[in-house]
Amino acid sequence: MNGGTGSRIVLRNTLREHESPFDLSGDTRAGLSSTPKTLPSKYFYDARGSHLFEMITRLPEYYLTRAETEILERESGRLVEAVRPTVLVEFGSGAARKTRILLDAMVDRGLLEGYGPVDVSAEASRHAADTLLRDYPHIRVEGVIGDFERPRDLPFAGRPRLMAFLGSTIGNLEAEQATAFLASIRQEMTGADAFLIGFDLVKDVAMLESAYNDEAGITAKFNLNMLRVLNRDLEASFDLDAFRHRAVWNADASRIEMHLESTREQVVRISSIGLDVAFAAGEKIRTELSHKYTRQSAGGLLDAAGLTLESWCTDEADRFALALARAVD
Ligand SMILES: C[S@@+](CC[C@H](N)C(=O)[O-])C[C@H]1O[C@@H](n2cnc3c(N)ncnc32)[C@H](O)[C@@H]1O
Repeated sequence: MNGGTGSRIVLRNTLREHESPFDLSGDTRAGLSSTPKTLPSKYFYDARGSHLFEMITRLPEYYLTRAETEILERESGRLVEAVRPTVLVEFGSGAARKTRILLDAMVDRGLLEGYGPVDVSAEASRHAADTLLRDYPHIRVEGVIGDFERPRDLPFAGRPRLMAFLGSTIGNLEAEQATAFLASIRQEMTGADAFLIGFDLVKDVAMLESAYNDEAGITAKFNLNMLRVLNRDLEASFDLDAFRHRAVWNADASRIEMHLESTREQVVRISSIGLDVAFAAGEKIRTELSHKYTRQSAGGLLDAAGLTLESWCTDEADRFALALARAVD
């Protein structure tokens, strides 16, 4: 419990349950034994990684947060009016800063009763819940610390819910993963619920690449944080100076790919899983995908998941879109 606010926070931690959806050891073994080498982006987000991501959202090159905020500020009232939700359930909620625009629109209409963040980061979830409860003292926060790809017992079943998946986090998922995720949430939705999803749009390559290669080097620190997590949690021996951040546009797959490139030939020991990983000079670990969508490709993804597009709003400069979707009967 946390001062005067704790009694209204329920944070369920699926990380420590017997069937934990997180398997850092197994995912690391599988990812670093495959060709090309990969690591899942969900492991960026320990306390330091979540903090670095927040810094990224304020960078001049990272247009995504500003573009999505612009749409939310313009459209939240209309969206909330169309759905009339009493609770907001948010996947990959992080610091939940933009969330406030939706919460305020719900408060203005006398609707807001609860907020349900679902995020892998315990620190970010706890901090967001504490600060939100200070500013929205009458609401109940019922969060899940866990993997949004394995939704179990989503909060506030039976109430009209606005589900939100902001920040273009959908873009971090491969197409089949994204369809499976949306379909699993669609299964939980009733006719009273709606799903609001932030899609980053295909655009000028220079603008896309600079968003992931900022001058201040914060995205590089965020990317390298993955290796710190493995050093700490799996007793690995990554030398952070022997890997370099790379982020490039892959036009065929319509995505930015983030890599860590080995600057020399080396072998890294991952003690707690007894694995030695050999790297050639220039060999890369792929750490994140950020798919970029068009209205058509986003509509196709929603269709495939049994969702129907109800509205599509972009920022003035057409960089980012918010899609409101409903479950198909
Ligand atoms: C790109 S950030 C977006 C944060 C925030 N929604 C925003 O728009 O600024 C992705 C968020 O999703 C969380 N996340 C990533 N993978 C996850 C997973 N598999 N399950 C639950 N949360 C995840 C991270 O901890 C992080 O808070």
